[in-house]
Amino acid sequence: MDCSAIACAAALLLLLLLRPCESDDRIVPGKPLSPGATVVSEDGSFALGFFAPSTSTPAKLYLGIWYNDIPELTVVWVANRDAPVTNTTTSPAPTLSLAAGTSDLVLSDADGRAVWTTNITAVPGTPAAPPTGLAAVLLNSGDLVIRSPNGTTLWQSFEHPADTLLPGMKIRVRPVMRSAPWTGYMVASQYQANTSLVYVVFVGTEEEMYLTYSLPDGAPPRTRYVLTYSGEYQLQSWNRSRAAWSVLGEWPAGLCGRYGRCGANGYCDGTAGGGAAPACRCLDGFEPASAEEWSRGSFSKGCRRKDEAPRCGDGFLAMPGTKSPDGFRRVGNRNLEECAAECRRNCSCVAYAYADLRMSGGASAGDATRCLVWAGELTDTVKMGDVTGSDTLYLRIAGLRAGERAKTNALKIALPAVLASCLLLLAGISLARFKFKGKIGNGKRRKKQNLGAMGSEFGETNPGQEFALFRFDDIVAATRNFSEAYKIGQGGFGKVYMR
Ligand SMILES: *[C@@H]1O[C@H](CO)[C@@H](O)[C@H](O)[C@H]1NC(C)=O
Ligand SMILES: *[C@@H]1O[C@H](CO)[C@@H](O)[C@H](O)[C@H]1NC(C)=O
Ligand SMILES: *[C@@H]1O[C@H](CO)[C@@H](O)[C@H](O)[C@H]1NC(C)=O
Ligand SMILES: *[C@@H]1O[C@H](CO)[C@@H](O)[C@H](O)[C@H]1NC(C)=O
Ligand SMILES: *[C@@H]1O[C@H](CO)[C@@H](O)[C@H](O)[C@H]1NC(C)=O
Ligand SMILES: *[C@@H]1O[C@H](CO)[C@@H](O)[C@H](O)[C@H]1NC(C)=O
Repeated sequence: MDCSAIACAAALLLLLLLRPCESDDRIVPGKPLSPGATVVSEDGSFALGFFAPSTSTPAKLYLGIWYNDIPELTVVWVANRDAPVTNTTTSPAPTLSLAAGTSDLVLSDADGRAVWTTNITAVPGTPAAPPTGLAAVLLNSGDLVIRSPNGTTLWQSFEHPADTLLPGMKIRVRPVMRSAPWTGYMVASQYQANTSLVYVVFVGTEEEMYLTYSLPDGAPPRTRYVLTYSGEYQLQSWNRSRAAWSVLGEWPAGLCGRYGRCGANGYCDGTAGGGAAPACRCLDGFEPASAEEWSRGSFSKGCRRKDEAPRCGDGFLAMPGTKSPDGFRRVGNRNLEECAAECRRNCSCVAYAYADLRMSGGASAGDATRCLVWAGELTDTVKMGDVTGSDTLYLRIAGLRAGERAKTNALKIALPAVLASCLLLLAGISLARFKFKGKIGNGKRRKKQNLGAMGSEFGETNPGQEFALFRFDDIVAATRNFSEAYKIGQGGFGKVYMR
């Protein structure tokens, strides 16, 4: 017993003594990282080091993080994205080190010139050396964090994403697509491929808003969201038997998925079916701003008014089966008639909708406010057909007498309202709620919302499950910088932002 206790203590002591040398999951002051060496997370999942994406000589090196247990080099984060360093065999090599005088990680080239730094402005160390106890640690999640001596996180790579979203990362950030209007506050949902694969959570609080996701037990551990060179978002999973990445999902899906594809005051006809090109049309009363470009399939200039703008007394044309455009203002406590009246009496109102917010948390949140009104350009309008989440958009038409029904036009628009099953878009999630929060003022609570929606490749929504399925982009669509949204004070949201 004595012996084993002593052995134990000795072993423990040995462990303690050895520990600093064994921790190869970090960079500490005085121990820079050079090409050829790596820092590996404690559980072996991720590695940090220099890599050369091409075989050019001399090698152009980037500092990155990649999966350590996957044969194919799959880089999930890069530090010096625009400034590769040259590998040298002769002179001093490029290094990553904790810089003297600050708490910064600095990547220096062979000449000692800093090409990349974490640029933590606060927390200077002693002029000569970084604070003792400072470390840059590669966590098992793939996050590279700089920890101050007291354990606080001074900087982390997860806050500076490249093209890959890893579980636990928060994404806040460039519009790619927008879901239908959403007015919820916090969303938690679940995304499935056969078994539960990814839990996607959209969080909005007073302090911050972001989207993140996690993998449940049993999910393939190497699963990630990637933004491809062509701008698609893909959910990928490492397939061991194939030794390759499998694409489980890709967005935006469908011809009309891309945000604002048909320009201002145009709409994308998602019910047209088939065809490789999006079917862009102009809203009633509008014509292509550039007929020539339009005929060439370039829609970015959108549509302009054919005649004079509608006047106050003009009536409204109903466009059923529509994904309400972006840029709306939400008016509280109006039923359909009151919503119509709200728009009719406001001469700058060009359209209104009594939105179906069931899929988007509005109704379940006990908030009956469904009245959306538009004053300026109508952007990212989609004809979806009679699917859940579609609305009837009432568009003010110059010369249409109030109460008069523009039968031909309405029919023309309504008839093709056959399901565009490709669609999705479902569930709206947009950050509208955040803007509304400022306007409506009930923003103190956090709520969980169920979202509906479906990526056809993932099967049907299961009524028994707590959360409905929805598309990742719909959630991503909800991420928008809160203060910016608050400040701009116009329109709807759900633009996707990425850095
Ligand atoms: C850079 O050069 C060093 C020394 O020649 C070598 O060990 C290392 O593998 C090279 N690194 C890369 C990424 O090519
Ligand atoms: C460091 O950050 C400051 C403030 O954010 C910025 O003005 C400065 O340009 C940055 N410097 C570098 C080298 O990135
Ligand atoms: C930890 O240290 C940092 C500077 O290194 C300082 O800003 C922070 O206030 C400290 N936190 C605590 C809890 O002491
Ligand atoms: C899910 O996959 C398992 C095997 O991987 C299979 O047995 C099961 O039938 C699948 N379930 C569904 C709903 O496809
Ligand atoms: C992995 O690849 C094999 C072979 O292509 C395929 O049959 C299997 O369904 C894939 N598994 C997953 C989970 O994608
Ligand atoms: C009319 O609509 C505009 C734009 O939505 C809004 O800014 C303005 O306050 C409205 N005017 C009235 C009287 O409601």
